[in-house]
Amino acid sequence: MDKKGPVKGTDMNALTIWHDAAIGIRDGVVVWIGSSEEATILETTQTINANGRLVTPGLVEPHTHLVFGGSREKELALKQQGVPYLDILKQGGGILSTVRATQEASYESLLEKALFHLDRMATYGITTLEAKSGYGLDRDTELKQLRVVKALNEQHPLDIVSTFLGAHAIPVHYKGDPEAFLLEMSEMFDEIKQENLAEFVDIFTETGVFTVPQSRRYLKKAKEKGFGLKIHADEIDPLGGTELAVELGAISGDHLAVTSYEGIEKLANSNTIGVILPGTSFYLGKDDYARAREMIDAGAAIAISTDFNPGSSVTENLQLIMSIAALKLKLSPEEIWHAVTVNAAHAIGRGDVAGSITVGRKADIVVWDAPNYLYIPYHYGVNHTNTVIKNGKVIYE
Ligand code: NIG
Ligand code: FE
Repeated sequence: MDKKGPVKGTDMNALTIWHDAAIGIRDGVVVWIGSSEEATILETTQTINANGRLVTPGLVEPHTHLVFGGSREKELALKQQGVPYLDILKQGGGILSTVRATQEASYESLLEKALFHLDRMATYGITTLEAKSGYGLDRDTELKQLRVVKALNEQHPLDIVSTFLGAHAIPVHYKGDPEAFLLEMSEMFDEIKQENLAEFVDIFTETGVFTVPQSRRYLKKAKEKGFGLKIHADEIDPLGGTELAVELGAISGDHLAVTSYEGIEKLANSNTIGVILPGTSFYLGKDDYARAREMIDAGAAIAISTDFNPGSSVTENLQLIMSIAALKLKLSPEEIWHAVTVNAAHAIGRGDVAGSITVGRKADIVVWDAPNYLYIPYHYGVNHTNTVIKNGKVIYE
């Protein structure tokens, strides 16, 4: 899995597999890969014997809402009654209820809570991830969230790529005037750049949230300021967010649960990666799963993710998402492994450092309690990690 770009279309079916391999690590970097018979082990070498277990690159998680206050377990009953996700939002619940909790939370409590979820992600084999803001919807709270992400990246072994999602919903005091709200959020771009608080800007392009023209104007401003782009696109209604992601050269279009045929075609002929979040379709109790099978068959590069957040997908378990991808998206195990490693890394601008075990790269490696790579999506709902190695150091075993 050491190709230069994301792995597209049918190439996603070809994995590079070594049997009885050994990996040499020095100073946190992979320095040698070969057959275990040929490996020279010095007396001073610390060894980890995988004993025939599966060894893969550390998982890359390309889409999370890691930092938030509170929780929304009461929404489960509403879901059971069939109240749609966007109706809960319209009534001031959903994202807006997490916004209230996040505004009220201190920086320290947000940090502690996010750290808890981050540690859990590490136990599940994630070694690099993306994290979004978006539960502030005002300058101070958005900055508070972004600073938490920055601090976590500095103090935690996992690498975190930060995304500014100020345009996640329309706050109550801007109801009926999304343009004015987007203007306020775009006025933060310079400050975010100066403090180096985010690499990407994201927006929720959805019915009752932001339209395609509003999203286009906002994201164009972000691009002019030097941000990479992401879009929560075609999650519930097919507004054409996927087409917009391609038009603007976004690094990824995310969700794509109801993307049109035209959108799939455009995605397949672009450099934009489709980040598919099948756990969200599952958790919202929907029948609409992204047509990832058709996307790959048309030639697109696909990644998959948990979408970890307190409302639409409450899990840090990317292994579970791999099972859902197999059963609901009909992806092959080979496609799934590309989707949680090399392609996920490219979807967050880390294709050159994460997502593959390659000489010269960081030693981000997982040893699994599994005999082969088919086993992880097959045995679902539990954690299969045996040892998680980040930058050459064991961080979980
Ligand atoms: O990716 N759709 C928008 N944002 C999140 C959900 C956020 C929430 O419900 O708190 C998503 O599904
Ligand atoms: Fe999301």
